[in-house]
Amino acid sequence: MDTQSIILENPAQMARPKTSLSPKPVRASETTLADLMSPPDANINGTVFGGRILALVDKAAAVCASRHAAKPCATIAMERVEFLVPIQLGDLVVVEARIHHAGRTSMEIGVEVHAESMLGGPRRHANNCLVTMVALDAKGRPSPVPPLSLETRGEKERHAAAVRRREDRLKNR
Ligand SMILES: CC(C)(COP(=O)(O)OP(=O)(O)OC[C@H]1O[C@@H](n2cnc3c(N)ncnc32)[C@H](O)[C@@H]1OP(=O)(O)O)[C@@H](O)C(=O)NCCC(=O)NCCS
Repeated sequence: MDTQSIILENPAQMARPKTSLSPKPVRASETTLADLMSPPDANINGTVFGGRILALVDKAAAVCASRHAAKPCATIAMERVEFLVPIQLGDLVVVEARIHHAGRTSMEIGVEVHAESMLGGPRRHANNCLVTMVALDAKGRPSPVPPLSLETRGEKERHAAAVRRREDRLKNR
């Protein structure tokens, strides 16, 4: 199991809001982590296990959600998991997570995974995933999260798409 991945600093996260439920921008919780793939990560094809990548996705989403909520968060759903290209041993895997939508207690986090060979060549887009995280109170129950303040066109578009997905999820529950 991965314990060594490096979470890169996010300067925007250092600016604290006035109260824990003041609106927060997307950039305040953006999270990037990186890890080097090594022989224990290999499947029988000699490439990296999908589960190894999903553990990194889950970790990046948890950091992003916890940064937004300023509370511990649990994964309640992962969806639209797409493995686009194989990842090789020796590749550096870079995982980027950003919040798309904040509900009352839940957040949709979009995660993108890229792989790069340190010997050169282009960075490859390897995986996409949507993760729903729920903020928890001290008793492990769902707890309110700050609203999102949307600053860019891309953020507004991702937010609108997440609202539609949330409506579909609620219909199907
Ligand atoms: C997370 C947990 C405490 C939520 O409790 P719950 O009683 O199911 O929560 P609720 O029904 O009140 O829903 C809480 C939020 O999650 C959302 N939600 C619930 N089920 C969902 C699902 N399947 N997909 C997406 N969102 C979901 C709800 O819409 C609600 O969001 P909102 O407050 O923004 O409107 C509980 O489900 C749990 O402990 N699950 C296990 C978590 C876990 O162990 N994860 C793996 C390790 S971290």
